[in-house]
Amino acid sequence: MQPDLFAVTNMARQVEWFSSVDSTMTIAARLAREGCPSGTVVGADEQTAGIGRHGHSWHSEPGAGLYVSVVLRLDLASGALPLVMLALGLATQQAIAEVTGLAPDLRWPNDVLLDEKKCAGILAQFEGDAVIAGIGINVSHTRFPPDLATLATSLRVAGAPAVSREQLLAALLRSIDEACRVLVTDGPDAIRDAFAHASSYASGRRVRVEQNGDFLTGVTAGLDPSGFLMLRQDNGSVTKILAGGVRPA
Ligand code: BTN
Repeated sequence: MQPDLFAVTNMARQVEWFSSVDSTMTIAARLAREGCPSGTVVGADEQTAGIGRHGHSWHSEPGAGLYVSVVLRLDLASGALPLVMLALGLATQQAIAEVTGLAPDLRWPNDVLLDEKKCAGILAQFEGDAVIAGIGINVSHTRFPPDLATLATSLRVAGAPAVSREQLLAALLRSIDEACRVLVTDGPDAIRDAFAHASSYASGRRVRVEQNGDFLTGVTAGLDPSGFLMLRQDNGSVTKILAGGVRPA
């Protein structure tokens, strides 16, 4: 896929596209260190060492997914990373809905789900003062390796008509721009409210969470001001969930 700059974004934007890379995150981090502009996109048809959250790998079947990293230079404090994670989840959910007509759910912090299975995953990490947003969307996979088969789905498996990755990328970049604008201009409350609205997991959902080697079970109780998930455990205590690993209980 060689997206035309203007067709993809309607504005000048640096897009580096590769047929095969280890991970788009590595290249985007290097470009960020070299001072590339905000909005720079690194994408690949295939990743040989795609990176997931919590030390997992990201299954990146050649030509079947959208695998991109976007360099974001946002005027935000470093403590805002959890809110950026939420904003990126909202943007990805919006882009998938727009292009497929499906109605994805969001599982805190930003897993995008169709039929309760993950169709997209998102990483956000700092490189200097830039955020590198890594987004993987399973587009046309028809099957997954055995360890992912019960957890993962693709837009195709979930019933989307044939999806153009170029169109999906264009929608994704537009929705990332808009979600970042909301976060920077309208502030954290706007993103937290949008997430609470868009995610069945934000409150009232019975879940099991792995945190610091322990398994906690309880009912989700909204987001704190920084965007962390609150969990009301069965013993009545309320615990802040700092990282992902949220599963239905
Ligand atoms: C997750 O585990 O949910 C996050 C997955 C993020 C995968 C994307 S694919 C594009 C970018 N490059 C990577 O190596 N990882 C991210």
